[in-house]
Amino acid sequence: MTASILPLIKRLVAENGRQYAPLYAVAIVAMVVVAGATAASAYLMKHVINSIFVNQDRTALYALTLGIFVIFTIKGFGSYFSEVLLGRIGNRLVAQTQRRLFEHLLKVDVSFFQARSSSQLVMQISQNATSVKEMLTTVSLTFGRDLFTVIALVGTMIFLDPIMTAIALIGGPLVVLISRKLVTQIRAAATGEIHSLAGIINATRELSQGVHVVKSFQLEPHMNERMDNAVSAVERLSNKMLRVQAVVNPLMDSLGGFAVAAVVFYAGWRNLNYGDTPGQFFAFITALLMAAEPARRISQAHLKLAASAIGVKMMYDLLDTPAREAETIEKPPLRVSKGDIVLENVVFGYTPDKPVIKGLNLIAPAQKVTALVGLSGGGKSTLLGLLQRFHEPQSGRILIDGQPIRDHSIASLRRNITYVGQDVFLFEGTILDNIRAGCRDATDEQCIEAAKAAGAHPFISQQSKGYQTEVGELGSQVSGGQRQRISIARAFVKNTPIILLDEPTSALDSETEDHIQRELQALTEKRTTVVIAHRLSTILHADVIHVIEDGQVVESGSHADLLKKGGPYSRLFLLQFARVLNPDASTAVN
Ligand SMILES: Nc1ncnc2c1ncn2[C@@H]1O[C@H](COP(=O)(O)OP(=O)(O)OP(=O)(O)O)[C@@H](O)[C@H]1O
Ligand SMILES: [Mg+2]
Repeated sequence: MTASILPLIKRLVAENGRQYAPLYAVAIVAMVVVAGATAASAYLMKHVINSIFVNQDRTALYALTLGIFVIFTIKGFGSYFSEVLLGRIGNRLVAQTQRRLFEHLLKVDVSFFQARSSSQLVMQISQNATSVKEMLTTVSLTFGRDLFTVIALVGTMIFLDPIMTAIALIGGPLVVLISRKLVTQIRAAATGEIHSLAGIINATRELSQGVHVVKSFQLEPHMNERMDNAVSAVERLSNKMLRVQAVVNPLMDSLGGFAVAAVVFYAGWRNLNYGDTPGQFFAFITALLMAAEPARRISQAHLKLAASAIGVKMMYDLLDTPAREAETIEKPPLRVSKGDIVLENVVFGYTPDKPVIKGLNLIAPAQKVTALVGLSGGGKSTLLGLLQRFHEPQSGRILIDGQPIRDHSIASLRRNITYVGQDVFLFEGTILDNIRAGCRDATDEQCIEAAKAAGAHPFISQQSKGYQTEVGELGSQVSGGQRQRISIARAFVKNTPIILLDEPTSALDSETEDHIQRELQALTEKRTTVVIAHRLSTILHADVIHVIEDGQVVESGSHADLLKKGGPYSRLFLLQFARVLNPDASTAVN
């Protein structure tokens, strides 16, 4: 166990130590002052008893009371400085860790997110940063203030009476042994707690995003049960951690009782038989009692570290996932003039042994509309991902205007491509902000121009705040078609030579579809467009159609040619669109 906490601490210190070294140095000085003052106050008890009470010395009375006051004041200031400094270091660590985690998330590739729930990431950003703070604070408080204090007090005890010290500390090793055993339990509980917390966020997020489904399918009891399970698990695990951490208390108390009793017996016996001064004994017992609290904290530190180690480990697991998008070698930018796209023998699988794209060849001619059609799961969306380098092909090449995209920078590639997805994603902010997401430098006028071209202007103008309407306020007031228009406006603003379009499968009423079709046509004019086509009108307007089946192009050509051939395309076409063209045929197909 110790073995797995220690490397984490080492790494944290190695990464953060240098930056905080001056602050830590001051904090350590303050902690040493606290430890020294504590030991001095215990030691003074010897003179308090012997000079004032036994020898009745009046000057000692004034000097010692003043001395005690000064020492405790110094101790107070020392505690203040060490706590404020460590607190500030901790808060800065939290901020820094959160930034670092998010920056890293922006650089990992798409598959990372596909493998994780958003709730888990939310948890990590908030929780792991706190674990880093807790771990370093525990380390510095325990091994700084508490350890110094205990060492100073034990030193005082040894100075006063070495034999009595040995008697008092005889039970110490027992505490170490037992607290080691408890660490395993803490670790399991802390891991469980983090997962259950993610469950709470998950249920809340799903309720907010899927409120229509929840209500319409009357899933309230089910959602409630999930929430209840997660909440109870967190409560149970927190209680478990509490219990395990508290086990140390009765242990320390009984050991402390034993130590005090043994010291009283030994000192009394010395006094009765050899006439030792009472001052010595009082100073000793004061030091012993003062050492109890920091010693208790040290014995619990192990457990606290074990709990925070879980979060720190999760953080490093995340930070250690390769940031694939941070290209190590500066690659030359892609120069796109017309936007000819060629795929040569492309092979790709999400897992290397299970190819999804199987030696695919395809040409999307410059400034033409290329439609991809095919049954579900054929690999169409995967192709659009490959074109944007969300993933890299295992073999084969993708060329744009003759340049293999792999040899050019990702940034330059994506600068030249606009992707319009099936679901329109709106960011927090105003409608205008959302359109401007296409190009941060666009002026208001350009955004409004784009909205007009996308046919979004009329409904945006109807909003009371127009373009300044917050998307959140918009909520579900906007229809699917209106959302699509916002995303088309965004694409207009980005104004790239290449457009990738994943057409929504959801049917729009034919009038809206006609309109959107017109706007899309305006958008794709003079641009290379690759569209995953679900709408008949799109297919009919396409210059080339590729039928994708099982990761390969099985047929290519124009609609009329392909239909004449009577191959895969005509079968697919019959299946999907016969109904639309000839309502009577629908009965035959269905
Ligand atoms: N992130 C992923 N991890 C693993 N497999 C995936 C992933 N995404 C897709 N697949 C698999 O890859 C294959 C192709 O999926 P893809 O989404 O490209 O199909 P599609 O042609 O776009 O289908 P649809 O018409 O339903 O959108 C499918 O078998 C799918 O299960
Ligand atoms: Mg798809």
